[in-house]
Amino acid sequence: MSSQAQNTDIVEHFDKNRAAEYDKDIVSFIPGYDLIHESNLAMFREKNLAKANVLVVGAGTGKESISLASGFREVNVTAVDPSKAMLESLKSKVNDLKLVNIDFICDYVANLKGESFNFANSILVMHFLPDRGEKLDYLREIYKRLEPMSELILVDFMKIEDECQDRAIMQAMKNYQLSISPSPEKIEEAHEKIKTNLHRITESRLFDLAEKAGFFKPIKFFQSFLIGGYILRK
Ligand SMILES: C[S@@+](CC[C@H](N)C(=O)[O-])C[C@H]1O[C@@H](n2cnc3c(N)ncnc32)[C@H](O)[C@@H]1O
Repeated sequence: MSSQAQNTDIVEHFDKNRAAEYDKDIVSFIPGYDLIHESNLAMFREKNLAKANVLVVGAGTGKESISLASGFREVNVTAVDPSKAMLESLKSKVNDLKLVNIDFICDYVANLKGESFNFANSILVMHFLPDRGEKLDYLREIYKRLEPMSELILVDFMKIEDECQDRAIMQAMKNYQLSISPSPEKIEEAHEKIKTNLHRITESRLFDLAEKAGFFKPIKFFQSFLIGGYILRK
């Protein structure tokens, strides 16, 4: 992966303070956050992979890693995240739950050695990477580590081609977030960050990148305002 794809600025954003608040804030910032993760689990269950190796890229504070590792004790989860603070939060939950089937790697996926995986997750991660080769490198690095026929579940903030519609849906999402959030200032702040930190792409661009990385055409399984969820099969 090119060094550009190692987005240290974003990793600094996921610092100790943000990690401490993340679980509380994310549910009002991502409409359907729990449903995304429940769907991910259901899709994994559908695969019937009793002894799978699962790669979780951008594991954060552990929502998907913990649900997979506690729901499927025979499965081994490799949780990868370059933010030490986010991974520390995940580790402390794993200790409390006494889970033994999660490995932690504080790094970028491109630096993973050796292993191959039967299922992978990239949930709310790739939108932080610019689209000047970084997103493609990121998808290729995941692709390389997957067994044939395995799936990557990818969820990102997307962009709608028509700018007017894009703005309208962004505003509608904000209205919704403000209606459920206990902290309107945090929603305002998060919307500023969407402008500066996220590199949203259209669905057709995602399909193009997925194909270039080697995946079959993605299948959409989730949509909530601008957040889209896709299955990418190798
Ligand atoms: C919004 S959080 C998502 C966490 C988790 N997947 C979830 O659904 O709650 C994004 C995470 O991606 C990590 N991240 C950012 N850039 C990354 C990259 N290039 N590779 C892997 N992880 C990255 C951040 O450190 C952060 O923990």
